[in-house]
Amino acid sequence: MGSRNGQLVVIIFIQIWIATAQNRDGKFNSFSAVLQALKEAWQKSVPPSWNVGSDPCRDSWEGIICTNSRVTSIYLTSMQLTGGLPGDIGQLSELQILALSYNPGLTGSLTPAIGNLKKLTNLVLVGCSFSGPIPDTLGNLERLIILSLNSNRFTGSIPASIGNLKNLYWLDLTENQLTGSLPVSNGTIPGLDMLTHAKHFHLGDNQLSGNIPPRLFNSNMSLLHLLFENNKFTGSIPSTLGLVRSLEVVRLDRNSLTGIVPTNINNLINVTEMFLSNNQLTGQVPNFTGMNFLNYLDLSNNDFSASDIPSWFSSLQSLTTLKMQNTNLQGQLPVGLFNIPQLQNVDLSNNKVNGTLNIGSNPSSQLQLVDLRTNEIAAFTQRRQYTIGLILVGNPICMESGVTDKYCSLPTNTSTSYSTPPNNCVPASCGLGLVSSPNCKCAYPYRGSFFFKAPSFSWLGNTTIYESLRDSLMKFFRKSQFPVDSVSLMNPSRNLDDYLVLNLEIFPSSTLSFNRTGILWLGFVLSNQTFKPSKDFNTYTFTAQNYDNFLPEVSVEGRPKQKSSNTGVGVIVGSAVGGCVLVVLLAVAGMYVFRQKGRAERAKQQSRPFALWDPTSGSGGVPQLKGARSFTFEEVRKYTSNFSEINNIGAGGYGMVYRGSLPNGQLIAIKRAQQGSTQGGLEFKTEIELLSRVHHKNVVGLIGFCFDQGEQMLVYEYIVNGTLKDSLSGRSGIRLDWMRRLKIALGAARGLQYLHDLADPPIIHRDVKTNNILLDERLVAKVADFGLSKPLSDANRTHITTQVKGTMGYMDPEYYMTQQLTEKSDVYSFGVVMLELITARNPIEKGKYIVREVRQAMKTSKQLYGLHEVLDPTIGLGSQLKGLEMFVDVSLRCVQETGNQRPPMSEVVKEIESIMELVGLNPTTESSSSTSASYELAPGIDYNHPYSNDSLYAYSGGFLPPKLIHPQ
Ligand SMILES: *[C@@H]1O[C@H](CO)[C@@H](O)[C@H](O)[C@H]1NC(C)=O
Ligand SMILES: *[C@@H]1O[C@H](CO)[C@@H](O)[C@H](O)[C@H]1NC(C)=O
Ligand SMILES: *[C@@H]1O[C@H](CO)[C@@H](O)[C@H](O)[C@H]1NC(C)=O
Ligand SMILES: *[C@@H]1O[C@H](CO)[C@@H](O)[C@H](O)[C@H]1NC(C)=O
Repeated sequence: MGSRNGQLVVIIFIQIWIATAQNRDGKFNSFSAVLQALKEAWQKSVPPSWNVGSDPCRDSWEGIICTNSRVTSIYLTSMQLTGGLPGDIGQLSELQILALSYNPGLTGSLTPAIGNLKKLTNLVLVGCSFSGPIPDTLGNLERLIILSLNSNRFTGSIPASIGNLKNLYWLDLTENQLTGSLPVSNGTIPGLDMLTHAKHFHLGDNQLSGNIPPRLFNSNMSLLHLLFENNKFTGSIPSTLGLVRSLEVVRLDRNSLTGIVPTNINNLINVTEMFLSNNQLTGQVPNFTGMNFLNYLDLSNNDFSASDIPSWFSSLQSLTTLKMQNTNLQGQLPVGLFNIPQLQNVDLSNNKVNGTLNIGSNPSSQLQLVDLRTNEIAAFTQRRQYTIGLILVGNPICMESGVTDKYCSLPTNTSTSYSTPPNNCVPASCGLGLVSSPNCKCAYPYRGSFFFKAPSFSWLGNTTIYESLRDSLMKFFRKSQFPVDSVSLMNPSRNLDDYLVLNLEIFPSSTLSFNRTGILWLGFVLSNQTFKPSKDFNTYTFTAQNYDNFLPEVSVEGRPKQKSSNTGVGVIVGSAVGGCVLVVLLAVAGMYVFRQKGRAERAKQQSRPFALWDPTSGSGGVPQLKGARSFTFEEVRKYTSNFSEINNIGAGGYGMVYRGSLPNGQLIAIKRAQQGSTQGGLEFKTEIELLSRVHHKNVVGLIGFCFDQGEQMLVYEYIVNGTLKDSLSGRSGIRLDWMRRLKIALGAARGLQYLHDLADPPIIHRDVKTNNILLDERLVAKVADFGLSKPLSDANRTHITTQVKGTMGYMDPEYYMTQQLTEKSDVYSFGVVMLELITARNPIEKGKYIVREVRQAMKTSKQLYGLHEVLDPTIGLGSQLKGLEMFVDVSLRCVQETGNQRPPMSEVVKEIESIMELVGLNPTTESSSSTSASYELAPGIDYNHPYSNDSLYAYSGGFLPPKLIHPQ
């Protein structure tokens, strides 16, 4: 026994040696070596999938996206990575996206080798702990579009070379410890003024100093947001700022700027939010006449004593907020100011406002708070009882007693609290760190905070703004097909920078927690600004909290399962053997050998997946494949979180169906044959062979299969909206109106027509039914489940004689009696599906057969053939059911007694197409690009974001990898 084991070990070592030799020969690409270096730098903190195999591309390491076996994107946001970023990264010459946001354990300096990544378009390192200078070599990244280094610990000055990034769109260096002055070009050295494509300069919360150079601004720029808040800039605001007319948000507040505000500032007519507060600006109140989109104006804590309150105050008709506390403002307030329709908040405290206060009889209905404390107001013309908060403490008027008493004491601080309420349900009581979602389901949410830097509003008590943000988030997730149950927003507040802080919780859909792919996707879209809120919220940064509860470690009941990860093993081994180093070393060596062996076998299996196919087990020869992937049992187990109950989405005679996701994020549906049952082996093989050959938009695509460890599984693309039966029965919550049913009928018919006429060899489905027609996110119908399908051979072009199989109610009576299966048998079943589409009844219900019921109910003389009794009431109003009679005609022809009386599928397709033309749908586009599944969205929400039209970082749908669309 012992010597055999010894031989085995020797053989394994030889295999390892051969494998490494192949490595040296360059059989595996050099990118693997770089990823190995990253793995070493990050040690235990790498995702567990990185411990499988040695080729990040082939072995599907989480967060790594490859194109032609070259690493093109690294997404490792919110992964709790610790360590530094090694210089090896510079060798990933094909890398386009490097996103490592929200890993506060990433430390050390940013390697200058990053400048070798010539193809990089997105460098997104938000919320890490990188320190030291920003490397000069960043200026070599000519393709860079998004550079987000915000919320780190970078020091030193902004490298002038950034001016060379001529494609740069988004520059965010906020919240670092940067010093020095802003680099501008001078003919020999580059500068920020050269970034004429940039729309965003976000440099707030640093220690930048010196003048804001006049040369920084020119009329070729296309800046939208200029955020310089909370730095140490001195000198005056250059008048060249007035040249950048595209500007929409200007924040120069919290600096030490002096002098007068340039008089041409009102050239910036598109500005909606302007913050010049907390400086030492002097002179007259700047003239903002003509800035008619201005929502939010904050000039507080400056000295504008050189003039009286200007008359144009009341001409800014978009104002929601006017803040000028402590500015030496003097004179009397115009009545018109309070009539501005959207006005919410006026804060003119600590000034020299005098005379009589007159709010008028009809102030803005939005007005919440007028703070005039510590001024020189002597009288108040009260036209009626106002509901607004008015503060007059510290004015002469409060020395007298009278009607104004209630305005002469400081209001008790009423902080606004908000939290997304439960959605018509009773919050669940959840243990173990689980949180009840707005839909009252327990789950582990992904948490973080939005920091909105320039919202258009100041009143935080308006709940509809949070609802609109929630809706736009949900809309975004649905569009991206990202499985989210709900989102919750809470605790709005203003921080010291006057950012609106809003906490966010995102709840996973149908699982207790997100998996790693989900988390890194969320971290990416929120740090890359892929999600764009509505215009009212404007620009934001997001910070994420650590996420600890990745999917595989959590069981259905929310009880953390016994950990099977490396750390668990380590703890057990460690405590058992105490200090016995030798035993540990042996154990490690053993594990190494074991793992290598597993790897070698896996490699073998992957190269010849059907080596294990047993031709004697009655399942026929090895399947003939094109494009279907072979998965090991371990892989599938991982993708489905150990076939967890939450991922179980259905069951049939064949076995269970599970949902899962591939490491690249693609959702999959796995059909797992009942364990231990060898029956169905033939069906299994048939389905793989057939499905791997058929490719049509109305036929469900096979991704691969698993034939390993006695298991038989089929891996399909996951079709989100489930079966047509579920939708017809109302279970799925998707409402199917007449138009949608027509489109679904056409799609399914085209799928079947493809199988009959275009597939080679032709395929008879043999089990057409509403349970086998799936609907994707756009409600495009897809024919599924080929377990009973039969290909027609050359010898049997018309029919096959075979044992009768199928589903009662859909089965062709002729086939049933003669055992002769033809294409027309599918046509019969499809006719039943068509009848089910209009009645939403099971083919056989309470002993009644749908075909007979419809035939009997028909009275061709009447409108809609008098079918009102049997029609599905939710199909729509009678007057809109154009073409229904034709539809019924076609379906009844499909269910004729004998096959030769039934039309072929090609004719059925044509008939449905002409019905669609009749109702005004375009059949050439409709069956594929159907309307989206129309989840309810609150109407009237403005998704019109200032940069929503920039397609540049638009996320083009699909769940990872997010594609970056380049400008032009
Ligand atoms: C530009 O600035 C650099 C560094 O300050 C200086 O060496 C160079 O002479 C300047 N070039 C011109 C044309 O002024
Ligand atoms: C101001 O905004 C409008 C509307 O968005 C836009 O059409 C116009 O080009 C902008 N003006 C400038 C100077 O960018
Ligand atoms: C403010 O600017 C407008 C338009 O440029 C001008 O007509 C007006 O006279 C200015 N007002 C003051 C007080 O300077
Ligand atoms: C209000 O202040 C202005 C400027 O100091 C002054 O000219 C004016 O006379 C004052 N009005 C009243 C009613 O005191």
